[in-house]
Amino acid sequence: MMEQAVLQGGLKTSNNLLVMLPSSKSLLVSQNSSSQLLLHQFLQLKGQQQNKKPAAATAATHVLQGSRKQISNRLHHEEQHHAAGRRMMRMSQMRTTETKSPSSSSTSSCRRFLSTPLQAFHSTTQSATTSTTILNLGREVVEDHQQQQQQQQQHLLQQLPQALPAEQLQVQDYIVLKTSLILSKKEFFELPHVPGGTPEQLFDCEDEFLGNKVSLQLISEDVDPTTGIGKLSHEMQIENWMESPSPSDTASGSSTGGGTYESRFDLEFKVKKEFGVPGAFIIRNHHRDEFFLKSVTIELEAAQGDEESNHNSTVHFICDSCIYNTKAYKSDRIFFSNKVYLPSDTPEGMVVLRELELINMQGDGTGERKEADRIYDYAFYNDLGDSDCHESMKRPVLGGSQELPYPRRLRTGRPPSTTDPENQESRVDSVFLNLYIPRDERHTQVRVKGVVSKEDAILAAGRKLLPALQSLYSTHEEFTSLNNVRDLYKSPDIIATPVSSSSLSSSSTETRSSEPDEDPENQPEGMTYPVPKIIAVDEKAWTLDVEFGREWLAGINPAVIQCLQEFPMISQLDPTVYGNPVSTITVDHIEPFLDGLTVEKAIAEKKLFFVDYHDGFLPYLNKINSSPTSHAYASRTVLFLTSDGTLRPVAIELTLPPPCPGDENIARVFTPPSQGKNWVWEIAKAHVLANDTGYHQLVSHWLRTHATVEPIVIATHRQLSPLHPLHQALVPHLKGTLDINAAARKALINAGGIIEKTFTPHQYAMQISSGAYKNDWRFDEQALPADLIKRGMAIPDANSKHGLKLTIEDYPYAMDGLELWAAITAWLHDHIEIFYADDQSVQTDTELQNWWTEIREVGHGDKKDAEGWPVLNSKPALVHTLSIIIWLASCQHAAVNFGQYDHSAFMPSHPTSTRRQIPEEGTPEYEELERDPETFYLSTISTATQASVIMTTTEALSTHGCNELFLGQRSSPLWTSDPKVLAVFTKFQEHIAEIEELIKSRNMDRTLKNRYGPIEFPYEFLYPSSVSGLTAKGVPNSTSI
Ligand SMILES: [Fe+2]
Repeated sequence: MMEQAVLQGGLKTSNNLLVMLPSSKSLLVSQNSSSQLLLHQFLQLKGQQQNKKPAAATAATHVLQGSRKQISNRLHHEEQHHAAGRRMMRMSQMRTTETKSPSSSSTSSCRRFLSTPLQAFHSTTQSATTSTTILNLGREVVEDHQQQQQQQQQHLLQQLPQALPAEQLQVQDYIVLKTSLILSKKEFFELPHVPGGTPEQLFDCEDEFLGNKVSLQLISEDVDPTTGIGKLSHEMQIENWMESPSPSDTASGSSTGGGTYESRFDLEFKVKKEFGVPGAFIIRNHHRDEFFLKSVTIELEAAQGDEESNHNSTVHFICDSCIYNTKAYKSDRIFFSNKVYLPSDTPEGMVVLRELELINMQGDGTGERKEADRIYDYAFYNDLGDSDCHESMKRPVLGGSQELPYPRRLRTGRPPSTTDPENQESRVDSVFLNLYIPRDERHTQVRVKGVVSKEDAILAAGRKLLPALQSLYSTHEEFTSLNNVRDLYKSPDIIATPVSSSSLSSSSTETRSSEPDEDPENQPEGMTYPVPKIIAVDEKAWTLDVEFGREWLAGINPAVIQCLQEFPMISQLDPTVYGNPVSTITVDHIEPFLDGLTVEKAIAEKKLFFVDYHDGFLPYLNKINSSPTSHAYASRTVLFLTSDGTLRPVAIELTLPPPCPGDENIARVFTPPSQGKNWVWEIAKAHVLANDTGYHQLVSHWLRTHATVEPIVIATHRQLSPLHPLHQALVPHLKGTLDINAAARKALINAGGIIEKTFTPHQYAMQISSGAYKNDWRFDEQALPADLIKRGMAIPDANSKHGLKLTIEDYPYAMDGLELWAAITAWLHDHIEIFYADDQSVQTDTELQNWWTEIREVGHGDKKDAEGWPVLNSKPALVHTLSIIIWLASCQHAAVNFGQYDHSAFMPSHPTSTRRQIPEEGTPEYEELERDPETFYLSTISTATQASVIMTTTEALSTHGCNELFLGQRSSPLWTSDPKVLAVFTKFQEHIAEIEELIKSRNMDRTLKNRYGPIEFPYEFLYPSSVSGLTAKGVPNSTSI
């Protein structure tokens, strides 16, 4: 009868009884059997992780009796299934790698959507050798714990209820652990208040009033020798659930945002004196709705005779997590305190929990992810196209091939598309529906009345963008004059429906307003654009060549310029396909502009520089230019470093690919006018800038920060326990990346998305990004010093600050960047010294080694055999590796992100696309150009409709949220319990503060001409802190926008 009830989905509850639901979720039914449950969850999840379907299926038909013998039998039975599952998995893997073509199997169509590291691996072209390596990694973890599991099963035979109900403890036997929880309840801001609600809502409210539906149970760091798990307290229910919350301004910086309404609940746990220090707790929510758990604090009462060690000590848990109904989870929600350990130093009571939590994060690689899931897994970029919508929306899969390699994204498990199930994942139905990411990765954990978050601002901007996006399909409104462009800041409704995020974010008006002479009463709400700084002081300075040159050193794409060391420049493309590889820029073109130097001399003195977009764009141009609305070139630009330290463009080469196979490519060289303004030169610069804008967005910004960091986020949560000191150090720098990347896949980089509709590369945009990953991306070269050296912008010099001598001393990005790079590496050095005694301890840190192997071989699996991956076998190698990650996620992203609006929101200065070729003299088009050059210029660059979309988008992307955390900041001063960790972090904060003062002083030094330039826009993109809003400065901890 009991079994039948379970099969029907019923839940039997009684003492000493563990019930399995058909969904294979296990539910605890005995107050005193948590250790049994934890062990069972551990085994069950481990089984699922290893694709042990037989065990899970069988479990659904069994009820575990609480008797020792039956539990033991059950666990033994499961382990037999597990062992069989492992054997089956290995056999399957052998078949896959040795004999089976993925496409030859009846299950092959699903394989592209199976994205565990192992499954993803087998659907790609990766080698069998690597397969074995990854499998071994998995087996090591499994086999390490097989012995432990057997011991735990033996322990269960002897298990007694070790957490006596509090009322059964004698006063002399126990101590009291005063515990407080801070949380935000969903009902406060979302639950409709009855009367008048639906029956379901009434039920919710009744739940809320009755309370006693949320419980807490503490777990000691000290092991219970009878279970092998930490000692368990009794389970306590939270009472007075309907207690009124109060506003808390102290939440500033937390993921809940400032001004959050919070509730505090106090509990008193009575535990035996020998309980030990709580290292974790289990929280169970039996309400229908989730709530946001911010923190838990436990006051330790001194045990008799042990007052010195325990007196007044407090254990803190920084949770910042949504807690859903227990049925939403396959395992209990466990939180660890802010005390961290290397795996080998883990307190015995935490060992199993440490791995259980990692298994929870890894999942089993199957199924579609649900809202409450907390699983981090990998997938290819197979969700950008939408062939179900239209054949023209089909896009190739990025990642998993030599042709189109790419970093992995977060797996969502969405079903395959209908029309191309082999290759494409289906799209979400609406741009406003969320793609799966673990709930705690979202920008805002809760929505609170009166607080507009970054997420809300982006969503609102997206809604306002829709009319403009729709018009892109039907209209191409032109700017009629530069004054017409400037009107966007006065009467924006001439184009579409632009929106200012400053009107969406309650705080952004602090830092930027719309036209000051406009009467707000006469302005439609949310209809004005802030004046971008590029024209704020001088409306025409952006046209000057010196500003064109300066922006390669202090603009939003400052890491593409290279020192010219060979002349002429030579392409790496196949000459049989793309024609003459030798640049047509000659000595005669550029020597007139070198202030008397020969080219040879200028190269020797390191005064010639170049920006090369030839190879990145040329392969796609015939396809791109087949559209009647496109005409783009592949550009090379040569610049000369003048005696005053500024850069002067001296030649631009614009190339078109051979029109037919076997033809020669078509290259034209343009040089600056000897005096006055020349519109042909200005249009040539516009073509370069359109290349640059596309490369900036697709490579410098998206690929080098957002996309390459995503697999590191995934691996960190899969392989580094929250108890790991590097998890604690890294996670603040990985926050929000999955969220913004998912949003980008929905609306920015997808087929028909904003990038395709507004940037020159159109539907080939992401293939260009993939090409850059394939040809130019190496992990070690993402370190700022290595990148500068590679580009010839610095040389190693022991006598120079930071050990590098800059080729151009006044290079603001490099100057400020090296200060931050040094601060980050110094902090990480100090941090690592606390935990790692020697290089050996780095090598034997199993979680760390698994983490790094997974990043290289799975997350960046397409580049696993490339050069540039550090070997993580020493403390210096670890410091360097972590420095690169944090540099990319914080500083490098800030350098290319937060100036987007102020540099590119005036479209003529930074067009995103070009539509007309540069006319030859004697043609009707050339006469048109001479007759009305300004109109011709505007008809060459992006349309007004495209401009309004870009302005809206870049404004949202350049805006700091109201709860942004900047470099050197943490959400809570209690983020760690270790005074040594806090001390080195305080030192880091002081270092950051010194850098801010240094940047201020540099910006006051007018001999550094590249910091302001003629547009009078100081370089502050690497100034660490900022207020919220559109500030063009500030370095957030992570890539989250
Ligand atoms: Fe970004």
